[in-house]
Amino acid sequence: MKISVIGAGYVGLTTAACLAQVGHDVFCSESDLEKLAKLEAGVMPLFEPHLEDVINSVRKAGRLCFGSTEEAIAWGEAIFICVGTPPLANGDADLSAIEEVARMIAKHASGYRLVIEKSTVPVQTGGQLQKHLSVHSKNGLSYDVASNPEFLREGSSVQDFLHPDRIVIGVDSPRAEGLLRQIYEPIIHQMFTCPIHANCPQRSQPVFLATDTNSAELIKHASNSFLAMKISFINMVANLCEVVGADVTKVAQGMGLDPRIGAAFLNPGIGFGGFCFPKDVQAFIRIAEKSGCDFSLLREVEKINQHRVEHFIEKIRKELWVVRGKKIAVWGLAFKPNTDDVRFAPSIAIVKALLAEGSVIRAYDPEAVEKARVLLPDVTYCADAYQAAEGADAIVVLTEWDEFRKLDWTRLATLVERPLIIDGRNALPPQELAAHGFHYIGIGGVAATPEAVQSLARATA
Ligand code: UGA
Repeated sequence: MKISVIGAGYVGLTTAACLAQVGHDVFCSESDLEKLAKLEAGVMPLFEPHLEDVINSVRKAGRLCFGSTEEAIAWGEAIFICVGTPPLANGDADLSAIEEVARMIAKHASGYRLVIEKSTVPVQTGGQLQKHLSVHSKNGLSYDVASNPEFLREGSSVQDFLHPDRIVIGVDSPRAEGLLRQIYEPIIHQMFTCPIHANCPQRSQPVFLATDTNSAELIKHASNSFLAMKISFINMVANLCEVVGADVTKVAQGMGLDPRIGAAFLNPGIGFGGFCFPKDVQAFIRIAEKSGCDFSLLREVEKINQHRVEHFIEKIRKELWVVRGKKIAVWGLAFKPNTDDVRFAPSIAIVKALLAEGSVIRAYDPEAVEKARVLLPDVTYCADAYQAAEGADAIVVLTEWDEFRKLDWTRLATLVERPLIIDGRNALPPQELAAHGFHYIGIGGVAATPEAVQSLARATA
């Protein structure tokens, strides 16, 4: 099918590349001309595992082109809207980019178009789109509007697109449903060449759920808000563990074994960040408020999350006593591993606060340095985790990159001024580090000291 994708952010680029990968002819537009030029020149504007390879291969096969919004509107019978919906000051989603695209479709398109909202939008946006298209259409446009929320995680978006658990569509006509089924047919039946694994192990067929547009829109916000609630819940349990002397990893393990709860998203830490959860929880609260439903539960989720940064800094203060003048090695700046995204990352707030208290920050992140540099110009950026640790009074882990787990602890111990690790993600092995002379402090009562490891060794000898 001829498909257009409007907006080449994480969602738009992944959608365009993966739809081309499964056999469609895709045109992807981007209004930021600098970004567009990069894409046309084969330069990736963001880091996302596997995405560059997929884009290169589908472009070579002639199934993906980049260009202007007008060209995209003229190209596809189905048009996916993947533009940004950033938060406004009052927490509402800013829908101006969506409105602008709708206006352009109404102005430039003729014949039939299936207009699909993939960007995360408040419930009833589909209805507004319908109205807007009908008011502004000029050239005898006929159309359907559908919702098709994305459930892509940054860092594994190609995997999530090609091997989803579910595909949700919100449609109000059989024609729209038929077209969306046709678009997703290769993915529903897992009939395509997987660019990630030659003998792809994940070939289970996703559930294809068709609902009305309002319900599909709500599924997206409700899913993200629920996951954020799970994280805030375990973060409160972590606080309790610290006070009463329990270990949150054991508590989470015990809870997660109940299939009704599930083990995923029970990792405590410095709070959820990124461009989805913080803004989606805010937007969902506003949607509920405007509809007369007091969703105060989500206000608590937000409040708990906002307090994570201060809670973590307090841990650092407690250990360093005086923060001013101390050298702190920061490992990880991205809001989570396998991405270079630092938007709403708790790491940024933590580093800003530590700088404001007068500490000297030497930071390392495998991918996010370029983007962090813009927000944190007063940090010394290092080539690797070892370099960041040189002369450090404390190492602080803010993103759980896999490579941090595989370091040479003996070498690390020779580099630091004081062997202290404060791990905001419970990412490193406490006992192993303590055996190498480090005092390790994690989240939720996870801790280890060289003395405790030695006395345990003596007791078992
Ligand atoms: C999230 C959802 O997981 C996707 O399903 C959704 O499509 C996407 O938002 C979106 O709306 O576009 P993403 O923001 O990429 O995806 O990242 P997550 O893996 O969900 O992590 C979000 C934040 O929660 C990160 O800061 C992460 O460190 C934190 N987190 C996650 C925890 O603190 N603990 C956990 O147990 C899990």
